[in-house]
Amino acid sequence: MITRIYSIIVGSIGIISCSTLVGSKDTAKPESATKITDGQQVSVSQLYNDTCSKCHGVNAEGGGGGTKSLINFDKYDQKWDKPFFDTIKNGAPNMGMEAYGQTMSEKAIWALVVHLRELQAKGLRAQFGSPKPSGGVYSSKRHNFRIETILDQSQGLKTPWAIDWLPDGKMLVTNLPGTMFIAEGSKVIGKIEGLPATATIGQGGLMDVAVHPDYANNGWIYIAYAEPKADDPKAGLTKIVRGKLKFTGKNAQWTGQQTVFEADQQFYTSAGIHFGSRIVFDGKGHVFFVVGERGGNMLAQELGNPFGKIYRTNEDGSIPADNPFAKQPGPKHVGAIWSYGHRNPQGLVIDLAGNLWDTEHAPRGGDEVNMIAKGSNYGWPVICFGINYNDSPFQVPWPTASQKMSMPTFRWLPSIGACGLDVVRGNAFPQWKGDLVAGGLSGQNVDRIRVSGDKLVEREELIQGMGRVRDVMTGPDGNIYVVLNQPDIVIRLAPAK
Ligand code: HEC
Repeated sequence: MITRIYSIIVGSIGIISCSTLVGSKDTAKPESATKITDGQQVSVSQLYNDTCSKCHGVNAEGGGGGTKSLINFDKYDQKWDKPFFDTIKNGAPNMGMEAYGQTMSEKAIWALVVHLRELQAKGLRAQFGSPKPSGGVYSSKRHNFRIETILDQSQGLKTPWAIDWLPDGKMLVTNLPGTMFIAEGSKVIGKIEGLPATATIGQGGLMDVAVHPDYANNGWIYIAYAEPKADDPKAGLTKIVRGKLKFTGKNAQWTGQQTVFEADQQFYTSAGIHFGSRIVFDGKGHVFFVVGERGGNMLAQELGNPFGKIYRTNEDGSIPADNPFAKQPGPKHVGAIWSYGHRNPQGLVIDLAGNLWDTEHAPRGGDEVNMIAKGSNYGWPVICFGINYNDSPFQVPWPTASQKMSMPTFRWLPSIGACGLDVVRGNAFPQWKGDLVAGGLSGQNVDRIRVSGDKLVEREELIQGMGRVRDVMTGPDGNIYVVLNQPDIVIRLAPAK
Protein backbone atom coordinates (compact mmCIF):
# COMPACT_ATOMS: atom_id res chain seq x y z
CA MET A 1 0.00 0.00 0.00
CA ILE A 2 1.35 3.41 -0.97
CA THR A 3 1.16 5.81 1.94
CA ARG A 4 3.70 8.43 1.05
CA ILE A 5 3.65 11.21 -1.50
CA TYR A 6 6.12 10.73 -4.30
CA SER A 7 8.26 13.60 -5.40
CA ILE A 8 6.80 15.59 -8.23
CA ILE A 9 9.32 16.21 -10.97
CA VAL A 10 9.45 19.87 -11.83
CA GLY A 11 11.04 21.38 -14.91
CA SER A 12 11.07 18.06 -16.72
CA ILE A 13 13.13 17.72 -19.86
CA GLY A 14 11.55 14.59 -21.24
CA ILE A 15 8.41 14.02 -23.20
CA ILE A 16 5.40 14.48 -21.05
CA SER A 17 2.51 12.30 -21.99
CA CYS A 18 -0.76 13.90 -22.85
CA SER A 19 -2.61 11.51 -20.64
CA THR A 20 -5.73 12.06 -18.64
CA LEU A 21 -6.14 11.50 -14.96
CA VAL A 22 -7.74 8.24 -14.08
CA GLY A 23 -9.92 8.90 -11.09
CA SER A 24 -12.65 6.31 -11.26
CA LYS A 25 -10.76 3.50 -9.54
CA ASP A 26 -9.76 5.80 -6.67
CA THR A 27 -13.05 5.21 -4.92
CA ALA A 28 -12.35 1.48 -4.72
CA LYS A 29 -9.06 1.79 -2.89
CA PRO A 30 -8.57 2.13 0.84
CA GLU A 31 -8.72 5.65 2.34
CA SER A 32 -5.07 5.85 3.29
CA ALA A 33 -3.61 4.90 -0.08
CA THR A 34 -2.37 7.54 -2.52
CA LYS A 35 -3.17 6.24 -5.96
CA ILE A 36 -0.42 6.89 -8.47
CA THR A 37 -2.44 8.28 -11.32
CA ASP A 38 -1.55 8.67 -14.98
CA GLY A 39 -0.97 12.39 -14.77
CA GLN A 40 1.29 12.27 -11.74
CA GLN A 41 4.98 12.74 -12.53
CA VAL A 42 6.55 10.27 -10.15
CA SER A 43 10.18 9.22 -10.26
CA VAL A 44 10.23 5.56 -11.23
CA SER A 45 13.53 4.85 -9.45
CA GLN A 46 12.18 6.36 -6.26
CA LEU A 47 8.94 4.45 -6.57
CA TYR A 48 10.91 1.22 -6.97
CA ASN A 49 13.32 1.99 -4.15
CA ASP A 50 10.50 2.92 -1.78
CA THR A 51 8.09 0.13 -2.68
CA CYS A 52 9.89 -2.84 -4.19
CA SER A 53 13.54 -2.81 -3.18
CA LYS A 54 12.96 -4.10 0.34
CA CYS A 55 12.19 -7.47 -1.25
CA HIS A 56 13.79 -7.32 -4.72
CA GLY A 57 16.90 -5.29 -3.77
CA VAL A 58 17.91 -1.86 -5.14
CA ASN A 59 19.77 -3.60 -7.95
CA ALA A 60 17.17 -6.36 -8.55
CA GLU A 61 19.54 -8.78 -6.87
CA GLY A 62 16.68 -10.24 -4.78
CA GLY A 63 17.08 -11.86 -1.40
CA GLY A 64 14.33 -10.13 0.62
CA GLY A 65 10.91 -11.73 1.19
CA GLY A 66 11.94 -14.91 -0.58
CA THR A 67 12.72 -13.26 -3.92
CA LYS A 68 15.23 -14.56 -6.43
CA SER A 69 17.77 -12.44 -8.30
CA LEU A 70 16.54 -11.04 -11.61
CA ILE A 71 20.13 -10.64 -12.86
CA ASN A 72 20.13 -13.60 -15.23
CA PHE A 73 19.83 -13.94 -19.00
CA ASP A 74 16.67 -16.05 -18.90
CA LYS A 75 14.62 -13.28 -17.26
CA TYR A 76 16.33 -10.58 -19.33
CA ASP A 77 14.15 -11.26 -22.34
CA GLN A 78 11.21 -9.51 -23.95
CA LYS A 79 9.04 -12.60 -23.42
CA TRP A 80 8.92 -11.60 -19.74
CA ASP A 81 7.65 -8.06 -20.35
CA LYS A 82 3.98 -8.93 -20.08
CA PRO A 83 4.35 -11.52 -17.27
CA PHE A 84 6.36 -8.98 -15.22
CA PHE A 85 3.69 -6.35 -15.83
CA ASP A 86 0.93 -8.80 -14.82
CA THR A 87 2.76 -9.88 -11.66
CA ILE A 88 3.18 -6.28 -10.51
CA LYS A 89 -0.45 -5.52 -11.32
CA ASN A 90 -1.99 -8.69 -9.87
CA GLY A 91 0.66 -9.60 -7.29
CA ALA A 92 2.04 -13.00 -6.41
CA PRO A 93 -0.39 -13.71 -3.55
CA ASN A 94 1.02 -17.14 -2.67
CA MET A 95 4.56 -15.75 -2.52
CA GLY A 96 3.83 -12.72 -0.38
CA MET A 97 3.81 -9.97 -3.03
CA GLU A 98 0.76 -7.74 -3.03
CA ALA A 99 -1.09 -6.53 -6.12
CA TYR A 100 -0.27 -2.97 -7.13
CA GLY A 101 -3.05 -2.60 -9.71
CA GLN A 102 -5.24 -0.75 -7.20
CA THR A 103 -2.61 1.76 -6.13
CA MET A 104 -0.67 2.38 -9.34
CA SER A 105 -1.69 3.37 -12.85
CA GLU A 106 -0.81 0.95 -15.63
CA LYS A 107 1.72 3.47 -16.93
CA ALA A 108 3.50 3.47 -13.57
CA ILE A 109 3.46 -0.34 -13.49
CA TRP A 110 4.96 -0.51 -16.98
CA ALA A 111 7.59 2.06 -15.95
CA LEU A 112 8.61 -0.29 -13.13
CA VAL A 113 9.18 -3.06 -15.69
CA VAL A 114 11.42 -0.66 -17.63
CA HIS A 115 13.29 0.13 -14.42
CA LEU A 116 13.79 -3.59 -13.73
CA ARG A 117 15.11 -4.05 -17.30
CA GLU A 118 17.60 -1.21 -16.75
CA LEU A 119 18.78 -2.84 -13.53
CA GLN A 120 19.09 -6.20 -15.27
CA ALA A 121 21.14 -4.72 -18.14
CA LYS A 122 23.45 -2.97 -15.69
CA GLY A 123 23.86 -6.07 -13.54
CA LEU A 124 24.47 -8.41 -16.47
CA ARG A 125 27.03 -6.04 -18.04
CA ALA A 126 28.87 -5.73 -14.71
CA GLN A 127 28.92 -9.49 -14.34
CA PHE A 128 29.59 -10.66 -17.90
CA GLY A 129 31.13 -7.63 -19.64
CA SER A 130 31.17 -7.09 -23.42
CA PRO A 131 32.27 -9.44 -26.20
CA LYS A 132 36.09 -9.67 -25.93
CA PRO A 133 38.59 -11.06 -28.42
CA SER A 134 41.03 -13.78 -27.54
CA GLY A 135 44.20 -13.67 -29.64
CA GLY A 136 42.44 -11.11 -31.83
CA VAL A 137 39.48 -13.42 -32.50
CA TYR A 138 35.94 -12.85 -31.28
CA SER A 139 33.96 -16.02 -30.88
CA SER A 140 30.23 -15.70 -31.34
CA LYS A 141 27.44 -18.20 -31.63
CA ARG A 142 27.76 -19.08 -35.33
CA HIS A 143 30.95 -17.42 -36.57
CA ASN A 144 34.32 -16.27 -35.33
CA PHE A 145 35.47 -12.91 -36.57
CA ARG A 146 38.18 -10.26 -36.35
CA ILE A 147 37.84 -6.51 -36.18
CA GLU A 148 39.83 -4.61 -38.79
CA THR A 149 40.12 -0.83 -38.94
CA ILE A 150 39.42 0.43 -42.45
CA LEU A 151 39.53 4.21 -42.00
CA ASP A 152 41.35 5.30 -38.87
CA GLN A 153 41.36 8.66 -37.12
CA SER A 154 44.11 10.06 -39.36
CA GLN A 155 41.60 10.07 -42.27
CA GLY A 156 39.76 13.10 -40.91
CA LEU A 157 36.17 11.84 -40.79
CA LYS A 158 33.83 14.22 -38.94
CA THR A 159 30.82 12.53 -37.37
CA PRO A 160 30.61 10.01 -40.22
CA TRP A 161 27.00 9.03 -40.85
CA ALA A 162 26.75 6.56 -43.70
CA ILE A 163 28.73 4.58 -46.26
CA ASP A 164 28.07 2.91 -49.58
CA TRP A 165 30.18 1.60 -52.43
CA LEU A 166 30.63 2.33 -56.11
CA PRO A 167 30.89 -0.73 -58.39
CA ASP A 168 34.68 -0.25 -58.64
CA GLY A 169 35.00 -0.76 -54.87
CA LYS A 170 35.49 2.87 -53.86
CA MET A 171 33.64 3.70 -50.66
CA LEU A 172 31.61 6.89 -50.19
CA VAL A 173 31.45 8.27 -46.63
CA THR A 174 29.13 11.07 -45.54
CA ASN A 175 30.03 13.37 -42.66
CA LEU A 176 27.20 15.03 -40.73
CA PRO A 177 28.56 18.60 -41.17
CA GLY A 178 27.89 18.30 -44.92
CA THR A 179 30.88 16.69 -46.63
CA MET A 180 31.27 13.42 -48.49
CA PHE A 181 34.60 11.60 -48.88
CA ILE A 182 35.76 9.04 -51.40
CA ALA A 183 37.87 6.23 -49.88
CA GLU A 184 39.89 3.48 -51.44
CA GLY A 185 41.38 0.71 -49.32
CA SER A 186 42.29 2.31 -46.00
CA LYS A 187 42.68 5.89 -47.29
CA VAL A 188 40.41 8.82 -48.04
CA ILE A 189 41.58 9.76 -51.55
CA GLY A 190 39.20 12.57 -52.47
CA LYS A 191 35.98 14.36 -51.82
CA ILE A 192 32.75 15.28 -53.57
CA GLU A 193 32.35 18.95 -54.37
CA GLY A 194 29.19 20.90 -55.08
CA LEU A 195 26.90 19.04 -52.69
CA PRO A 196 23.79 20.92 -51.58
CA ALA A 197 24.12 23.12 -48.48
CA THR A 198 22.87 21.40 -45.36
CA ALA A 199 21.23 22.79 -42.24
CA THR A 200 23.61 21.56 -39.55
CA ILE A 201 21.16 21.92 -36.68
CA GLY A 202 21.51 19.42 -33.83
CA GLN A 203 21.20 15.91 -35.25
CA GLY A 204 20.66 17.23 -38.79
CA GLY A 205 23.15 17.63 -41.61
CA LEU A 206 24.26 15.37 -44.43
CA MET A 207 22.99 11.93 -43.51
CA ASP A 208 22.51 8.92 -45.76
CA VAL A 209 24.09 8.06 -49.11
CA ALA A 210 22.82 5.21 -51.29
CA VAL A 211 24.28 4.16 -54.62
CA HIS A 212 21.55 3.04 -57.03
CA PRO A 213 21.73 -0.76 -57.57
CA ASP A 214 22.05 -0.14 -61.32
CA TYR A 215 24.64 2.62 -60.90
CA ALA A 216 26.86 1.07 -63.57
CA ASN A 217 24.18 1.93 -66.13
CA ASN A 218 22.48 5.03 -64.73
CA GLY A 219 25.09 6.71 -62.47
CA TRP A 220 22.54 7.81 -59.82
CA ILE A 221 23.53 8.42 -56.23
CA TYR A 222 20.86 9.30 -53.65
CA ILE A 223 21.47 11.37 -50.53
CA ALA A 224 19.35 12.37 -47.53
CA TYR A 225 20.13 15.66 -45.81
CA ALA A 226 18.58 18.39 -43.71
CA GLU A 227 17.71 21.09 -46.20
CA PRO A 228 17.79 24.65 -44.79
CA LYS A 229 14.49 26.49 -44.98
CA ALA A 230 14.49 29.05 -47.81
CA ASP A 231 14.10 32.06 -45.51
CA ASP A 232 15.69 30.66 -42.32
CA PRO A 233 18.95 28.67 -42.43
CA LYS A 234 18.47 27.68 -38.78
CA ALA A 235 15.43 25.61 -39.70
CA GLY A 236 15.35 22.56 -41.92
CA LEU A 237 13.82 19.25 -42.88
CA THR A 238 14.98 15.95 -44.34
CA LYS A 239 15.11 16.05 -48.12
CA ILE A 240 16.03 13.32 -50.61
CA VAL A 241 17.82 14.16 -53.85
CA ARG A 242 19.75 12.23 -56.46
CA GLY A 243 22.73 13.34 -58.52
CA LYS A 244 25.67 12.04 -60.52
CA LEU A 245 29.42 12.17 -59.99
CA LYS A 246 31.77 13.74 -62.48
CA PHE A 247 35.30 12.70 -61.58
CA THR A 248 38.18 15.10 -62.04
CA GLY A 249 41.20 13.19 -60.80
CA LYS A 250 40.52 11.84 -57.30
CA ASN A 251 37.73 14.30 -56.53
CA ALA A 252 34.27 14.35 -58.02
CA GLN A 253 31.70 17.03 -58.76
CA TRP A 254 28.03 16.52 -57.78
CA THR A 255 26.03 17.23 -60.94
CA GLY A 256 22.56 16.93 -62.42
CA GLN A 257 20.76 17.00 -59.09
CA GLN A 258 17.05 16.09 -59.03
CA THR A 259 14.67 16.26 -56.09
CA VAL A 260 13.18 12.92 -55.07
CA PHE A 261 11.29 14.13 -51.99
CA GLU A 262 10.72 17.35 -50.13
CA ALA A 263 7.87 18.45 -47.89
CA ASP A 264 6.24 21.88 -48.00
CA GLN A 265 8.39 24.65 -46.49
CA GLN A 266 5.74 25.38 -43.85
CA PHE A 267 6.87 22.18 -42.07
CA TYR A 268 10.57 23.11 -41.90
CA THR A 269 11.45 23.54 -38.25
CA SER A 270 14.36 24.63 -36.08
CA ALA A 271 13.98 21.52 -33.86
CA GLY A 272 17.39 19.87 -33.79
CA ILE A 273 16.17 16.31 -33.37
CA HIS A 274 14.81 13.25 -35.22
CA PHE A 275 15.56 13.65 -38.92
CA GLY A 276 15.27 9.97 -39.86
CA SER A 277 16.87 9.53 -43.34
CA ARG A 278 18.10 6.14 -44.72
CA ILE A 279 17.42 5.31 -48.31
CA VAL A 280 16.73 1.81 -49.63
CA PHE A 281 15.80 0.52 -53.09
CA ASP A 282 13.43 -2.38 -53.58
CA GLY A 283 14.82 -3.26 -57.01
CA LYS A 284 11.32 -2.82 -58.48
CA GLY A 285 11.63 0.87 -59.26
CA HIS A 286 10.81 2.24 -55.77
CA VAL A 287 12.83 3.95 -53.10
CA PHE A 288 12.02 4.05 -49.36
CA PHE A 289 13.25 6.63 -46.84
CA VAL A 290 12.34 8.22 -43.52
CA VAL A 291 11.48 11.58 -42.01
CA GLY A 292 11.68 11.42 -38.19
CA GLU A 293 9.09 13.09 -35.98
CA ARG A 294 11.25 16.20 -35.28
CA GLY A 295 10.12 16.23 -31.66
CA GLY A 296 6.53 16.59 -32.86
CA ASN A 297 5.16 13.59 -30.91
CA MET A 298 1.46 13.36 -31.88
CA LEU A 299 2.24 14.81 -35.32
CA ALA A 300 3.57 11.32 -36.17
CA GLN A 301 -0.08 10.19 -36.05
CA GLU A 302 -1.30 12.87 -38.48
CA LEU A 303 -1.05 12.06 -42.15
CA GLY A 304 -1.28 15.77 -42.97
CA ASN A 305 2.07 16.36 -41.24
CA PRO A 306 5.29 14.96 -42.78
CA PHE A 307 6.96 14.04 -39.47
CA GLY A 308 7.33 10.47 -38.22
CA LYS A 309 6.68 8.71 -41.54
CA ILE A 310 8.34 6.14 -43.77
CA TYR A 311 7.92 7.08 -47.43
CA ARG A 312 7.91 5.28 -50.75
CA THR A 313 8.28 6.98 -54.11
CA ASN A 314 9.24 5.88 -57.57
CA GLU A 315 12.97 6.29 -58.14
CA ASP A 316 12.36 9.63 -59.86
CA GLY A 317 10.29 10.89 -56.93
CA SER A 318 6.86 10.47 -58.49
CA ILE A 319 4.12 8.86 -56.40
CA PRO A 320 3.35 5.19 -57.12
CA ALA A 321 -0.36 4.72 -57.82
CA ASP A 322 -0.52 1.81 -55.33
CA ASN A 323 0.81 3.82 -52.37
CA PRO A 324 -1.63 3.55 -49.44
CA PHE A 325 -2.51 7.26 -49.38
CA ALA A 326 -1.83 8.07 -53.05
CA LYS A 327 -5.30 9.50 -53.53
CA GLN A 328 -5.67 11.21 -50.16
CA PRO A 329 -5.91 15.01 -50.44
CA GLY A 330 -3.45 17.14 -48.46
CA PRO A 331 0.07 18.57 -48.64
CA LYS A 332 2.35 17.01 -51.26
CA HIS A 333 4.08 14.55 -48.90
CA VAL A 334 0.84 12.63 -48.16
CA GLY A 335 0.83 10.54 -51.32
CA ALA A 336 4.37 9.35 -50.57
CA ILE A 337 3.56 8.01 -47.07
CA TRP A 338 4.09 4.27 -46.72
CA SER A 339 3.67 3.92 -42.92
CA TYR A 340 3.29 6.29 -39.96
CA GLY A 341 3.42 6.61 -36.18
CA HIS A 342 7.23 6.43 -36.19
CA ARG A 343 9.52 8.30 -33.82
CA ASN A 344 12.97 8.32 -35.35
CA PRO A 345 13.87 5.38 -37.56
CA GLN A 346 17.59 5.54 -38.39
CA GLY A 347 17.83 2.02 -39.74
CA LEU A 348 16.00 0.77 -42.83
CA VAL A 349 16.60 -2.31 -44.97
CA ILE A 350 14.88 -4.82 -47.23
CA ASP A 351 15.80 -8.34 -46.17
CA LEU A 352 16.59 -11.27 -48.43
CA ALA A 353 12.93 -12.34 -48.38
CA GLY A 354 11.89 -8.88 -49.63
CA ASN A 355 10.46 -7.57 -46.33
CA LEU A 356 11.07 -3.96 -45.26
CA TRP A 357 12.44 -3.47 -41.72
CA ASP A 358 13.25 -0.45 -39.63
CA THR A 359 15.02 0.14 -36.34
CA GLU A 360 13.90 3.18 -34.46
CA HIS A 361 14.69 5.18 -31.39
CA ALA A 362 12.24 5.22 -28.51
CA PRO A 363 12.77 7.56 -25.57
CA ARG A 364 14.31 5.94 -22.47
CA GLY A 365 13.73 2.25 -23.20
CA GLY A 366 12.05 0.40 -26.01
CA ASP A 367 13.96 1.01 -29.25
CA GLU A 368 12.19 -1.07 -31.87
CA VAL A 369 12.77 -3.46 -34.75
CA ASN A 370 9.65 -3.34 -36.91
CA MET A 371 8.57 -5.17 -40.01
CA ILE A 372 7.07 -2.35 -42.04
CA ALA A 373 3.72 -2.99 -43.67
CA LYS A 374 1.99 -0.74 -46.19
CA GLY A 375 -0.26 1.85 -44.57
CA SER A 376 0.33 0.65 -40.99
CA ASN A 377 0.52 2.73 -37.84
CA TYR A 378 3.52 2.00 -35.59
CA GLY A 379 2.01 3.67 -32.56
CA TRP A 380 4.28 6.55 -31.55
CA PRO A 381 3.52 8.27 -29.18
CA VAL A 382 0.24 6.57 -28.24
CA ILE A 383 1.83 3.30 -27.25
CA CYS A 384 5.49 2.99 -26.35
CA PHE A 385 7.82 0.62 -24.48
CA GLY A 386 9.85 3.51 -23.08
CA ILE A 387 9.52 5.99 -20.23
CA ASN A 388 10.31 9.70 -20.14
CA TYR A 389 13.97 10.75 -19.98
CA ASN A 390 13.23 12.38 -16.63
CA ASP A 391 12.47 8.97 -15.05
CA SER A 392 8.68 9.39 -15.04
CA PRO A 393 6.14 6.98 -16.58
CA PHE A 394 5.10 7.61 -20.21
CA GLN A 395 2.77 5.08 -21.83
CA VAL A 396 1.88 1.42 -21.80
CA PRO A 397 3.20 -0.53 -24.76
CA TRP A 398 0.09 -2.46 -25.75
CA PRO A 399 -2.70 -1.00 -27.86
CA THR A 400 -6.33 -1.32 -26.82
CA ALA A 401 -8.65 -3.35 -29.03
CA SER A 402 -9.82 -0.23 -30.86
CA GLN A 403 -6.29 1.05 -31.56
CA LYS A 404 -4.97 -0.55 -34.74
CA MET A 405 -1.23 -0.39 -34.23
CA SER A 406 1.66 -2.58 -35.27
CA MET A 407 3.91 -4.07 -32.60
CA PRO A 408 7.68 -4.44 -32.90
CA THR A 409 9.29 -7.81 -33.56
CA PHE A 410 11.95 -6.91 -31.06
CA ARG A 411 12.52 -4.06 -28.63
CA TRP A 412 15.69 -3.12 -26.83
CA LEU A 413 15.03 -2.46 -23.16
CA PRO A 414 17.02 -0.40 -22.20
CA SER A 415 17.45 1.60 -25.42
CA ILE A 416 20.58 1.32 -27.54
CA GLY A 417 19.96 4.50 -29.61
CA ALA A 418 19.24 2.32 -32.66
CA CYS A 419 21.12 3.57 -35.74
CA GLY A 420 22.19 1.69 -38.84
CA LEU A 421 20.67 -1.54 -40.13
CA ASP A 422 21.54 -4.00 -42.85
CA VAL A 423 21.07 -7.63 -43.75
CA VAL A 424 23.98 -10.07 -44.02
CA ARG A 425 24.52 -10.94 -47.69
CA GLY A 426 27.27 -12.60 -49.68
CA ASN A 427 29.45 -15.49 -48.61
CA ALA A 428 31.83 -14.16 -45.95
CA PHE A 429 29.50 -15.22 -43.12
CA PRO A 430 27.34 -18.07 -44.50
CA GLN A 431 25.84 -18.96 -41.08
CA TRP A 432 24.62 -15.38 -40.65
CA LYS A 433 23.21 -15.00 -44.14
CA GLY A 434 19.86 -13.22 -44.11
CA ASP A 435 20.19 -12.06 -40.49
CA LEU A 436 19.71 -8.40 -39.61
CA VAL A 437 22.70 -6.51 -38.21
CA ALA A 438 21.73 -3.44 -36.20
CA GLY A 439 23.79 -0.74 -34.53
CA GLY A 440 23.32 1.43 -31.45
CA LEU A 441 24.65 4.90 -30.68
CA SER A 442 24.40 5.05 -26.89
CA GLY A 443 24.56 1.25 -26.66
CA GLN A 444 27.77 1.29 -28.76
CA ASN A 445 26.76 -2.13 -30.01
CA VAL A 446 26.16 -4.20 -33.12
CA ASP A 447 23.54 -6.90 -32.64
CA ARG A 448 22.72 -9.77 -34.97
CA ILE A 449 19.02 -10.44 -35.13
CA ARG A 450 17.46 -13.48 -36.76
CA VAL A 451 13.79 -13.35 -37.65
CA SER A 452 11.34 -15.78 -39.16
CA GLY A 453 8.47 -13.90 -40.75
CA ASP A 454 7.90 -11.13 -38.21
CA LYS A 455 8.98 -13.25 -35.22
CA LEU A 456 12.28 -12.95 -33.38
CA VAL A 457 14.28 -16.19 -33.46
CA GLU A 458 17.71 -15.27 -32.13
CA ARG A 459 19.61 -12.22 -31.00
CA GLU A 460 23.25 -11.83 -30.18
CA GLU A 461 25.48 -8.89 -29.34
CA LEU A 462 28.52 -9.08 -31.64
CA ILE A 463 30.55 -6.07 -30.49
CA GLN A 464 30.07 -3.46 -27.79
CA GLY A 465 31.90 -0.47 -26.41
CA MET A 466 34.05 0.48 -29.42
CA GLY A 467 32.24 3.75 -30.24
CA ARG A 468 28.81 5.08 -31.13
CA VAL A 469 27.51 3.08 -34.08
CA ARG A 470 26.11 5.25 -36.90
CA ASP A 471 25.86 2.81 -39.74
CA VAL A 472 26.15 -0.91 -40.35
CA MET A 473 26.53 -2.17 -43.91
CA THR A 474 27.41 -5.47 -45.52
CA GLY A 475 30.25 -4.59 -47.90
CA PRO A 476 30.70 -5.87 -51.46
CA ASP A 477 33.15 -8.40 -49.93
CA GLY A 478 30.47 -9.72 -47.52
CA ASN A 479 32.28 -8.31 -44.47
CA ILE A 480 30.23 -6.24 -42.02
CA TYR A 481 31.30 -2.59 -42.06
CA VAL A 482 30.57 -0.43 -39.04
CA VAL A 483 30.73 3.37 -39.07
CA LEU A 484 31.68 4.68 -35.64
CA ASN A 485 31.45 8.06 -34.06
CA GLN A 486 33.72 8.93 -31.10
CA PRO A 487 36.18 7.76 -32.40
CA ASP A 488 35.26 8.77 -35.97
CA ILE A 489 36.42 5.66 -37.80
CA VAL A 490 35.19 2.80 -40.00
CA ILE A 491 35.85 -0.78 -38.94
CA ARG A 492 34.76 -4.13 -40.31
CA LEU A 493 33.99 -7.58 -39.00
CA ALA A 494 35.86 -10.12 -41.15
CA PRO A 495 35.66 -13.90 -40.76
CA ALA A 496 38.29 -15.67 -38.64
CA LYS A 497 38.94 -19.37 -38.11
C1 HEC B 1 7.04 -8.25 0.31
C2 HEC B 1 8.03 -8.56 -0.68
C3 HEC B 1 7.79 -8.04 -2.08
C4 HEC B 1 7.56 -6.73 -2.47
C5 HEC B 1 7.42 -5.48 -1.61
C6 HEC B 1 7.48 -6.76 -3.91
N1 HEC B 1 7.66 -8.03 -4.37
FE1 HEC B 1 7.73 -8.59 -6.30
N2 HEC B 1 7.87 -10.53 -5.74
C7 HEC B 1 8.00 -10.97 -4.46
C8 HEC B 1 8.07 -12.42 -4.45
C9 HEC B 1 8.26 -13.29 -3.22
C10 HEC B 1 7.97 -12.82 -5.80
C11 HEC B 1 8.00 -14.25 -6.34
C12 HEC B 1 9.40 -14.84 -6.21
C13 HEC B 1 10.35 -14.26 -7.19
O1 HEC B 1 9.99 -14.20 -8.38
O2 HEC B 1 11.46 -13.86 -6.81
C14 HEC B 1 7.86 -11.60 -6.57
C15 HEC B 1 7.79 -11.56 -7.97
C16 HEC B 1 7.91 -10.42 -8.72
C17 HEC B 1 8.08 -10.39 -10.13
C18 HEC B 1 8.16 -11.59 -11.05
C19 HEC B 1 9.60 -12.03 -11.10
C20 HEC B 1 9.87 -13.26 -11.92
O3 HEC B 1 10.97 -13.81 -11.76
O4 HEC B 1 9.04 -13.66 -12.74
C21 HEC B 1 8.19 -9.08 -10.50
C22 HEC B 1 8.41 -8.53 -11.91
C23 HEC B 1 8.08 -8.30 -9.30
N3 HEC B 1 7.91 -9.15 -8.24
C24 HEC B 1 8.16 -6.92 -9.27
C25 HEC B 1 7.91 -6.18 -8.11
C26 HEC B 1 7.81 -4.75 -8.11
C27 HEC B 1 8.04 -3.83 -9.31
C28 HEC B 1 7.53 -4.39 -6.85
C29 HEC B 1 7.26 -3.01 -6.32
C30 HEC B 1 6.14 -2.31 -6.90
C31 HEC B 1 7.48 -5.62 -6.05
N4 HEC B 1 7.70 -6.67 -6.88
C32 HEC B 1 7.27 -5.64 -4.71
C33 HEC B 1 8.06 -10.19 -3.34
C34 HEC B 1 7.85 -8.84 -3.29
